[in-house]
Amino acid sequence: MAQDDQFKKLIAHAKEYGYIFQSSEIYDGLSAVYDYGQYGVELKNNIKKYWWDAMVKMHENIVGIDAAIFMHPETWNASGHTSAFNDPLIDNKDSKKRYRADDLIEEHIQKYQAKINKDVDKGRKKFGDSFDEKQFLETNPNILRNKSKIDEIQGRLVKALEADDLNEIKQIIVDCEIACPVSGSKNWTDVRQFNLMFETQLGSVAEGASKIYLRPETAQGIFVNYLNVQKTGRMKLPFGIAQIGKAFRNEIVARQFIFRMREFEQMEMQFFVKPGTEKEWFNHWKELRMKWHKALGLTDEKYRFHEHDKLAHYANAAFDIEFEFPFGFKELEGIHSRTDFDLSQHQKFSGKKLQYFDPESGESFVPYVVETSIGLDRTFLTILSACLQDEEVKKENGDSDIRVVFRIPPALAPIKLAVLPLVKKDGLPEKAREIIDELKFDFTCQYDEKDSIGRRYRRQDAIGTPYCVTIDHKTLEDNTVTIRDRDSMEQERVQISELTKIVDDKVSMKKLLKKIF
Ligand code: GAP
Repeated sequence: MAQDDQFKKLIAHAKEYGYIFQSSEIYDGLSAVYDYGQYGVELKNNIKKYWWDAMVKMHENIVGIDAAIFMHPETWNASGHTSAFNDPLIDNKDSKKRYRADDLIEEHIQKYQAKINKDVDKGRKKFGDSFDEKQFLETNPNILRNKSKIDEIQGRLVKALEADDLNEIKQIIVDCEIACPVSGSKNWTDVRQFNLMFETQLGSVAEGASKIYLRPETAQGIFVNYLNVQKTGRMKLPFGIAQIGKAFRNEIVARQFIFRMREFEQMEMQFFVKPGTEKEWFNHWKELRMKWHKALGLTDEKYRFHEHDKLAHYANAAFDIEFEFPFGFKELEGIHSRTDFDLSQHQKFSGKKLQYFDPESGESFVPYVVETSIGLDRTFLTILSACLQDEEVKKENGDSDIRVVFRIPPALAPIKLAVLPLVKKDGLPEKAREIIDELKFDFTCQYDEKDSIGRRYRRQDAIGTPYCVTIDHKTLEDNTVTIRDRDSMEQERVQISELTKIVDDKVSMKKLLKKIF
């Protein structure tokens, strides 16, 4: 299936099965804002728990906070967001469409990369087993030409972004003859900077009102609370503060569903360390975060590291963990070594000392910070895009059928088991309720008696429920039930008393965490 169609299909599935709805849909929706439905919120909460447990519960030296979304406006002057949290934008005069200028150039670069990939495929087909990809990449004239084009454009872009040279960014677009994807024209405005923060007023709009911002990242709530937590928690370096919360960005180009939203959630952890040890901690967190992702079992090849070409002036190392979404490899999480920039800035702007006293050396200093910052919604999208599958199944009469199955990692599945009475009579519904009343303390259960048993199984497969338990007449005689596995579709007759153990074995968060720790 074409990538575009595959992506449309998963968006439709997310809506049809109560995972994600367009915000304010009855008013035709609000662009790049989404609501999570009855199953979506459960999946989201389970992802949060997986992250929180891995960061806070598994580390004695990491604690959590929940800071307010509104912060003193001076926070954003100190962090640099009021002056520098900008994207370069450009408008096409014919289509009136607005684009991020750097994205247009990056997409143009990707076209050269696609040509290289195509040539490699052709080479592989032509030379078969004797194909030497490394040598081909180093010697094929077409590939070398395309590679040098990529290097040239990328080099110019990085330099222009570093120097904040908007004229040069426009010139790259002109020189590369980049056309508007909508109008096809090259009739561009100049490139301008656009600040991504949303503004609002605190207090009455009249006298005394002051301009404040919706936070564009959760990290600053951690920095301004660094000393509160360090002192009240008697924390010793190295230690971390974790937080999950909403962030807001007025994205210029908001598309790709929940990948780029205007209101989204971040899960961030700032790890405070002694200056000079940050590289070691940076490598530690880089590896540990990758392990966390891979433990989910969404296919290891779908993840890769990407080192930043352009480091922020305060950072001394930065890597992204990228995931292969249906529209290609894109950023999922950032791991940044931010030096002492943020704390020093807050110290300067607030006039309050934000130092750590090291009892061993007797010195006071501003700690360095290694940050891990992951988008909750993007993590949700990794699961949607990797786990939703169409599977061919053979029917009893030999025909084949398509089963839509959402293979969510069981520990994250919104519903852990569905309890289904075979028929709506003879005391079977009552027995099903009895089982739910016992199991609901441990697992999110769902009762379903509508439609044939086959249709009910398919409905649970599409929701992603790891287990279905069926109650039939034999259950009333011997307290046994049939338990059906979502992935293998295998069914087994077991005692009701065994259910808790069987389900727990499959859906336990502990087992997932044990893969990492
Ligand atoms: N404190 C560092 C920070 O905010 P970032 O790279 O701007 O760094 C971190 O954002 C993560 O937040 C990203 O890797 C991404 O997963 C998520 N994110 C950023 N902007 C987003 C948006 N508009 N919609 C959804 N997720 C977003």
